[in-house]
Amino acid sequence: MPIAHPPSETGAHRPELSVNPIFTREPVRIPRFELPDGELHADVAYQVVHDELMLDGNARLNLATFVTTWAEPQAQQLMAESFDKNMIDKDEYPRTADLEQRCVRMLADLWHAPDPATAIGCSTTGSSEACMLGGLALKRRWQLARRAAGKPTDRPNIVMGINVQICWDKFANFFEVEPRLVPMDGDRLHLGAAEAVAQCDENTIGVVAILGSTFDGSYEPVSEICAALDDLQERTGLDIPVHVDGASGAMVAPFCDPDLVWDFRLPRVASINTSGHKYGLVYPGVGWALWRDSAALPEELVFKVNYLGGEMPTFALNFSRPGGQVVAQYYNFLRLGRDGFRRVQQTCRDVATSLSGRIAQLGPFRLLTDGSQLPVFAFVVDGDRPYSVFDVSAGLREEGWLVPAYSFPAHREDIKALRIVVRNGFSHDLADLLLDDLRRVLDRLEKQSAPQRGAESASFSHGTR
Ligand SMILES: Cc1ncc(COP(=O)(O)O)c(C=O)c1O
Repeated sequence: MPIAHPPSETGAHRPELSVNPIFTREPVRIPRFELPDGELHADVAYQVVHDELMLDGNARLNLATFVTTWAEPQAQQLMAESFDKNMIDKDEYPRTADLEQRCVRMLADLWHAPDPATAIGCSTTGSSEACMLGGLALKRRWQLARRAAGKPTDRPNIVMGINVQICWDKFANFFEVEPRLVPMDGDRLHLGAAEAVAQCDENTIGVVAILGSTFDGSYEPVSEICAALDDLQERTGLDIPVHVDGASGAMVAPFCDPDLVWDFRLPRVASINTSGHKYGLVYPGVGWALWRDSAALPEELVFKVNYLGGEMPTFALNFSRPGGQVVAQYYNFLRLGRDGFRRVQQTCRDVATSLSGRIAQLGPFRLLTDGSQLPVFAFVVDGDRPYSVFDVSAGLREEGWLVPAYSFPAHREDIKALRIVVRNGFSHDLADLLLDDLRRVLDRLEKQSAPQRGAESASFSHGTR
């Protein structure tokens, strides 16, 4: 299987790009598929690339993605000022390195690490890398403990709901850990505590709990899962740590649900990740991985880089990485503080719950979730209608809105849902406009004799399987 897609066939009948004659006084030949021999004027090259990108979707109308699509000009300016800084060059860019450490410390405090000053963590390219690091630490801890006890280490497994984001399938595949995916059952559309524990054994490196589920925005019951694992330890002696995948929720729950206990307040929670580029409000790509203390991250996984004449510990899959995202994260922390984040995330939640309520009132839809946890909700077409969720998604796409439709995984493949992610910048006004368009799409679809599209037409599901 090829790693990359085969080259695009678009324009294959014309091997050269067509250039607006106004861009350039002399005719230029720009090969479509080969590296050009000669140079182009920067303005011409800019205009050609700019024009092609015009046909991408409008990011602000992309209700499929969790990733930031609007940031303040000041954050953009700081990012532009840092484009030339490589995050790994701690010695050359010590201030950037220091901002990263301050962000880690702020997150450790936000997530109630026992001692934020000694909690360890790092920035990453996003939650996927952060989850890989969290999983690797779990695996190595388990291996060390097993070896110390003279037991075999050849069959590690990790327990998680089948609703986990695709990055966990990657972790299991790349790092050779058996994924034990707990299926959905009836109305339980994410991991349950009893079901998680039932999958655990002496080879379990950890349990992943998600805050919240990519499929429907619901929070998994982290404290119940921890309590059930406490009980398992009492009964069997098995001490199984929990990693919380808070890709979105770890930047929502601390502000909107301060009484929800899901983080390092639970002693069993060993590590947490979040995406700075989701509800951390930074443009892609930045994520964060934190461990409750140094015991949770085996020393042998940590590498040292030069820093101010000494050494600084790092844990990352990448080496080079842009510094701008970390700088923008620090800017957001300073700029918004707890009050600002609360206001932004609560506004998203208000927009989500209000929009989901009005979608429910339209008639043809039933809500699976209402946006009152993550500001994300999923809904299905209820009853016998002459259209499918895939028809609704295609209809909205014609109006410019990207709203994904997808099937749920085992054992609820029967559920075909639409999902809306409300992010900062998606206002009540935009929600009104979406609703107007949805009404128009439904009027059109009601005239169909039968659904036109099935699950095969699902084109963008954002990591759901
Ligand atoms: C729960 C969860 N985990 C991990 C990821 C992967 O995050 P990233 O896109 O930051 O790599 C996502 C992305 O949507 C997610 O929702």
